Amino acid sequence: MGKLRFPDKFFWGSATSSYQVEGGIEYNDWAQAAREGKMPAAGKAADHYNRYEEDFDIAKSLNQNAHRFSIEWARIEPEEGRFDEDAIEHYRKVLQALRGKGLEPFVTLWHFTLPIWFAKMGGFENKKAPFYFARYCEYVVSRLGERAQFLITINEPMIYAGQSYMKGIWPPFRKNIFKFIKVVNNLIMSHNIVYGKIKLSDPNILIGIAKNNMDFDSSRFNFAGRLIQIFLRLFWNHYFLKKISRQQDFIGLNFYFHKHFGYKIYEKKSDMGWAIYPPAIHHVLMELKKYRKPIYIAENGIADAVDSKRAKFIKDHLYWVHRAIHDGIDVRGYFYWSLLDNFEWDKGFEPRFGLVEMNYETMERGIRSSAYEYKKICETNMLETNN
Ligand code: BGC
Repeated sequence: MGKLRFPDKFFWGSATSSYQVEGGIEYNDWAQAAREGKMPAAGKAADHYNRYEEDFDIAKSLNQNAHRFSIEWARIEPEEGRFDEDAIEHYRKVLQALRGKGLEPFVTLWHFTLPIWFAKMGGFENKKAPFYFARYCEYVVSRLGERAQFLITINEPMIYAGQSYMKGIWPPFRKNIFKFIKVVNNLIMSHNIVYGKIKLSDPNILIGIAKNNMDFDSSRFNFAGRLIQIFLRLFWNHYFLKKISRQQDFIGLNFYFHKHFGYKIYEKKSDMGWAIYPPAIHHVLMELKKYRKPIYIAENGIADAVDSKRAKFIKDHLYWVHRAIHDGIDVRGYFYWSLLDNFEWDKGFEPRFGLVEMNYETMERGIRSSAYEYKKICETNMLETNN
């Protein structure tokens, strides 16, 4: 049996996002879409807003030493220019709770959901969007102070723009390539402005984004596939990262997907129907070498209601993460998605990504057996393999 040791001070954690777990959020575009019957309602979700202490105790009992969560813009700024003191106080307490339990916070400032007033202005289509976003971020950072060392400005900009403006299946349900491009570019500008402003006020805060990159590959004999692969790699994986390359202290990598053109490997699937191919995370990490930045895997996870694949999924991916570290990639942390079962956007509550199973009737939390397997890794900073 092989023992693969991870670097010292490696962050082991899990991730969530506000709208997916907190419950009780009414003033954002998703809640609005739910009221209009266009999206499932998140309702109370996992009631994490009231039960975060209990949830962090679970994370700690699982030997995690870091935690990624997001701040809900619609709570902080429910109306344009009106900032809610109670809401920011809540997140100060969340940070305090994490620090008190020895969990390093990774704070996402924006994870897909927009305040209604901002959505009404056209959200990130609006050319003034970077100004509004920066004002919100500055407010949050000034109030949270040194409590948050690691900031993620934007979660998965390409997924957001793709789902909302190319496929048109998420709010604001547009299908328009020009708007898609505009939104992507406004998100780039938003990030870069926020980076500059925060660094000016506190150069010690470390700032990045969480970027969903995919492993695009093609058989050598599929000429069209090869061209598509090259284009997608450049556009989907690298366009955004290149445009912010001087304004990021680390890269947050969210890894879920691979797309192979012209060949097929037999692969198991998750409950979402997503094929599982762990070596792909190695390919994607190797592609990030050129940026010469520390990398945190900000998300990697599987929907697996019966918990028969999750433990192996985590171990197999970590095997390839370790291989990437061995090959010179500076990976410093891994956040499983997700700590809790949660609201999976247009799919509602059915997909079960959690290390912790939710009973949404009673709000009881049940730790899945795969969580204990992950715990061993977090505890020992080591992965035992059969290879
Ligand atoms: C998102 C999460 C989502 C997860 C699983 C990522 O794209 O950041 O919000 O729940 O993937 O689909």
